[in-house]
Order: sequence, then C-alpha cells, then structure tokens
Amino acid sequence: MTSGHWMAFSFRLPHMLAGKNIALGVTGGISVYKMCTVVRLLKKAGANVRVMMTQSAAEFVTPLTFSTLSQEEVVVSLWPENKKTSTNLGVKHIDIGLWADVMLVAPATANTIAYIAHGNADNIVSSTVLALRCPLIIAPAMDVDMWENRATQDNLTTLRERGYFILPPESGELASGLTGMGRLPEPETIVDFVNGVIVKTPQDLKKKKILVTAGPTHEPIDPVRYIGNRSSGKMGFALANAAALRGADVTLVSGPVSLGTPNNVKRIDVETAEEMYGAVMAYAKKQDVIIMAAAVADYAPAEQAKQKIKKQHATMTMELRSTPDILRALGEKKTKKQILIGFALETENELANAKIKLQKKNLDLIVMNSTKDKGAAFGSDTNVVTLIDTKGNVSALPKMPKFDVAVEILNRAVKEFNR
Ligand code: CTP
Repeated sequence: MTSGHWMAFSFRLPHMLAGKNIALGVTGGISVYKMCTVVRLLKKAGANVRVMMTQSAAEFVTPLTFSTLSQEEVVVSLWPENKKTSTNLGVKHIDIGLWADVMLVAPATANTIAYIAHGNADNIVSSTVLALRCPLIIAPAMDVDMWENRATQDNLTTLRERGYFILPPESGELASGLTGMGRLPEPETIVDFVNGVIVKTPQDLKKKKILVTAGPTHEPIDPVRYIGNRSSGKMGFALANAAALRGADVTLVSGPVSLGTPNNVKRIDVETAEEMYGAVMAYAKKQDVIIMAAAVADYAPAEQAKQKIKKQHATMTMELRSTPDILRALGEKKTKKQILIGFALETENELANAKIKLQKKNLDLIVMNSTKDKGAAFGSDTNVVTLIDTKGNVSALPKMPKFDVAVEILNRAVKEFNR
C-alpha cells in the first residue's frame, strides 16, 4: 500500500452504520434511481432502512423496488391502505420519526426543500420531518437555475441554521441538458455523509445541561450608537446545535447576531456584557458544562448619553469602564463536577497567553484562536483552533467547519465526564 493510500484510509471516519435505523425520504427527481444503490449500501453496512416516497418519486421508481431492497414496507401515503379498518390513521410519520436514528431526504427537490423550510406537512416525507427527533440530512438535487434561485438558497440557509445537515449537490451534466450545480452525489458519497453525521452526533449528552454564549455584546454610547465587535456568533451557535443534536438540554445566551436558532435550543437574547452576565449567572449553577464562546466587550462607555450626541468638536474623548468578566466569575464559583470552557482570541504569543487565561479563569479547557490563521476570520464558516487543557495537552486542529470544531470541543467535555 502506498503512503498516499494509507493517509486516505487513516482519515476515514469509523463505520457506525451497523444496527442504525435510517429513515429515507425519497422525493421526485430523475436521480431517484441512485437511491436504490444507497439503500443497498446501507443494508450491506448493517443498517435498518425504512423508505418513504412522495407520489412524484413513485413516478420515477416503483415502491416495490425500494421495498425489495429495504425488506420493509414502503410508505407513500399519509393514510393507511385500508381506511375502513385501520385505527392508526395518520400516525406513520410519527412512528418512523421516533424509530429513526437519522433521517435522510434524498433526492430533495426544490419543492421539498421549500416545504420543509416552511413546515408544510401534506406528504409523508415533509410531515415526518416536522415530527422528527433525530438528525436530518438533506441532499438537494435539481436543475442549476432552481438551485441558484434566491428562494432555494434562502430556504437552505434557514434549514442550515435550524441545524439540519445539507449534502451539497455536485456540478456536472444535468437531466435538462444544462451543465452546472444540481447533480445528486454518487451513492458512496451519500452513504459516507450519513455515516459522518452518525459519528458526529453520538447520543452521549442526554440529560446533560449545557450553556453556551455566542456573538458580540453591544455597549450603548447613546440611543443610536454602540461599541461592538465583529463576532458573527457562528461558533457559539454551532456549539449549541452540536450539543442539542447529541441530546443535551441546551441554553444559548446570545448577543446581537443575525442567525436563526437551532432546533431544540433554548435561546436568550441579550445586548450588553452586563445583561449577558445576568443571564449566564441566573442559569450557571445547574449546568454540567458552560462554554463561553461570546466575544464579550471588555469596556463600555462609563455613561450612556440620554440623547443622540451631537457633532460639535473635531475630536471627542469618551470615558470607558470595564465590564464584568463573566468567565472569571464562573471560574470562581465553579463546582467540582462542572466543566468550564473558554475561548481566547490572541494576536501574539498565542499559546502563552491562552495558558495564562486557562489558569487565571480556572477553566478545564481553552479554545485558542489566532488572528494570524487564515480560515479563522470573523463571520467565516470555518475555524482554526488549538485546544489546551489543564494538564498542558495542546492539540492544534486543522482548518475545519465550525460544526466540526464544535464536535471536537464537545468530545473533550464528554472525556472529562468519563474521567
Ligand atoms: N470573557 C468573559 N467576560 C468578559 C471578557 C471575556 O466572559 N468581560 C470570556 C470570553 O467569552 C472568552 C474568554 O473570556 O471565553 C477570553 O476572552 P478574551 O477576549 O480572549 O480575553 P480577555 O479575558 O478579555 O483578555 P484580553 O482581552 O486582555 O486578551
């Protein structure tokens, strides 16, 4: 085996599909045929698969094909076959939603994506999604113009923010004869993605209470102006989402950001450092884990002007006062069982500065960001971090999506629980 092969192999995720219950929602597009192979591969990997199809999907491939491959009855209608004798009218979507460890909607048409984004429940696939308790993966497939349409892209943003996983389509030749984005990825890619989601969402935080802070704080100068910073809140929201998907009871205290709330997350909106301090302290005692991902302003105007400050002089001086250090206060009150995780944004002497913060604030783990790293910019969907614990272990993680960084941080918290 060449070293190249070995590297490729060593980076593969463990196979976790055996024994897992996978709900598959198939909606109507030419690529439905690829899903036959997906079902075969999932079954071969030892998963249980229950297929639901929309009426239009059943125009492309018959339910019988999927039923043969999955060795399960395929559900096409919300209604039972025999309406006269059945007593479980209209509960199939609830049953399958409760049964599933993960749900995959593939191919997901533009129409299905719109349905899910708006909570429509008039077919078996969209209504199952509405009643779902497990992670959801959506694999869009459509023509390039439908893919690029603002309506589709806005709907996908909504779904991502809710905490659903989107497997992006590939670029290539499309059924319409056009070339561009919109092709459903190959079956092996889809199965790998499903496996990846299972690996990243183990149910190991059930019954754990986790509080996460996110975003900037805004410190008012006058009724229209404030001191703030460029934090987008994406890292904290990814942490809240990843923890909720692992079964935790999540409270998210957020500064002003323009992000939708992930599913199953209790969100408390605050504006200033003082308000964030109040909200965090009110919930802190009962938490098993607290993660301070917020970029709290260190200083606020000493006084807030009641009226808008008028332009009068060429220069202006403003007095600032320091805000409460929330993390430090948490560190002082920390119980033995509580896990406290902080962030450190550094521009120089990164490791040394982060280690000082870890110790000074009595933390279990600090997540160090350096402004020097490309891929860790404000507002970016990726991050480059180094994790430092109290034993002096330092792990520099490669550039990865913020969700994956969140998974790594939570893995550390779980390790602490198990010690
Ligand atoms: N933090 C906090 N309250 C503050 C300031 C920071 O809880 N008033 C938290 C942040 O959420 C982060 C950690 O403390 O988890 C470190 O934040 P950072 O801004 O890197 O460090 P500071 O302690 O503010 O120190 P400095 O700005 O001097 O680097």
